[in-house]
Amino acid sequence: MQGWIVPPPKEPTKSRAEFTKERHKKVEWLIRRGYLRSERIKEAMLRVPREDFIPHMYKDYAYREVPLPIPGQEATISCPHSYPLFYEPLGLDKDHKFLEVGLGSGYGTALAREIVGPDGLVVSIEIDPLTFEFAKSNLEKAGYNDIVLIKEDGALGYREMSPYCRIAITAACNKIPPPLIEQLRIGGRLIGPVKKYRTQHLVLLAKNDDGIIKEVVCEVLYVSLRGRYEDKQD
Ligand SMILES: C[S@@+](CC[C@H](N)C(=O)[O-])C[C@H]1O[C@@H](n2cnc3c(N)ncnc32)[C@H](O)[C@@H]1O
Repeated sequence: MQGWIVPPPKEPTKSRAEFTKERHKKVEWLIRRGYLRSERIKEAMLRVPREDFIPHMYKDYAYREVPLPIPGQEATISCPHSYPLFYEPLGLDKDHKFLEVGLGSGYGTALAREIVGPDGLVVSIEIDPLTFEFAKSNLEKAGYNDIVLIKEDGALGYREMSPYCRIAITAACNKIPPPLIEQLRIGGRLIGPVKKYRTQHLVLLAKNDDGIIKEVVCEVLYVSLRGRYEDKQD
């Protein structure tokens, strides 16, 4: 993983109680650092056991600020602060229909499911078959059985359930794939990392009747988007 020092794999030693304590401490840290602001996202982060979405040999590092390897080509579970970093500016909330591109471990998907609540909907797409099976099994074991999981190129979106209130892309693209902008409803927002020279910008788009308003949230470092929109120049 370019740019990150991944800790060595080892047999996990931590108990459920220790993980729960670490989760609470992490949430307090995220609030102090200004990443986490809304009550719904905070509640979701307290509720979802991140350790259940991490491969056995990396579990003890669940709450460290480092992306950890998961099955699949260059696949990772993002660091804990990435989730409020995306979901706060996105304004992900109760009752939203949410599309995630890049299911990864399923952790961000589980958080989104908690945030949108019983009247919302979460659709998540993963291109890598190994990663897809890993996430599906994690989500099923954790009791999330009502998330729509699609094994496809997420850059093409999932037209059948569009338009979406919110869309998050969790892999870095050269430009936001046009099908995703099309599948965003008017009044909706989309967030994702966009490559900019040697860095990446976390870009937030708001779609309204007059068009698209773009804002750069911060610099980030994500694995590259694969599939139809991989390595295409603007
Ligand atoms: C940083 S990881 C996502 C981490 C995830 N949010 C989590 O909680 O574990 C990015 C994911 O995007 C996936 N990906 C890359 N290109 C994709 C595409 N075109 N469609 C769907 N998934 C894609 C990768 O296989 C990888 O699993």
